[in-house]
Amino acid sequence: SENVENGIVKVLVTREEVEKTVKRLGSEITRYYDEKETDLLLVGLLRGSFVFLADLVREIKLPLMVDFMSLSSYGDGTVSSGDVKVVMDLDTSIEGRDVLIVEDIVDTGNTFSKVIRMLKNRKPRSLKVCTFLNKPECRIVDVKIDFCGVDIPNEFAVGYGLDYAQKYRNLPYVGVLDPEILEE
Ligand code: PRP
Ligand code: MN
Ligand code: MG
Repeated sequence: SENVENGIVKVLVTREEVEKTVKRLGSEITRYYDEKETDLLLVGLLRGSFVFLADLVREIKLPLMVDFMSLSSYGDGTVSSGDVKVVMDLDTSIEGRDVLIVEDIVDTGNTFSKVIRMLKNRKPRSLKVCTFLNKPECRIVDVKIDFCGVDIPNEFAVGYGLDYAQKYRNLPYVGVLDPEILEE
């Protein structure tokens, strides 16, 4: 079964829940932007969001464009450094556009708040945020999430884009890593 592979001790979001959640978010986003004259740009935050973003775009039934920013605050550790580095910026101008930032997880909120601050300065027409996972217990910076997937408890999660030391992103579900692996 999926929960005994790869050093995973517990499954937090099964493949089936992943699929259901992405479909639900896709239709919420479609419904929301469909009522507007929209020039929608999805901004995926690398690296973590790439799996979710790839699935999500196929559930949004509207014309859209995709660009990426690369940010890093955890490095190879399990604790937010609080210092969010911009590794790569957008290649697209967002002025006057409807921008939807897409994340794999909101934990302390440091990453989202940094990106929101940066992008607001560039005068988008609108700026919304979507995350697949949310860890409300871990919030340090308050961020308003417009489209939210699944709330998870305060445990170090991997899979579906989330890594530990850059590994486990390819698991098709979200799980908790064996603490012994985190100690190595
Ligand atoms: C992780 C995750 C989110 C962020 C959430 O990124 O992908 O982007 O941390 O945590 P926060 O709310 O505490 O800021 P990470 O820095 O590990 O980079 P990665 O996406 O390349 O894994
Ligand atoms: Mn990330
Ligand atoms: Mg990471």
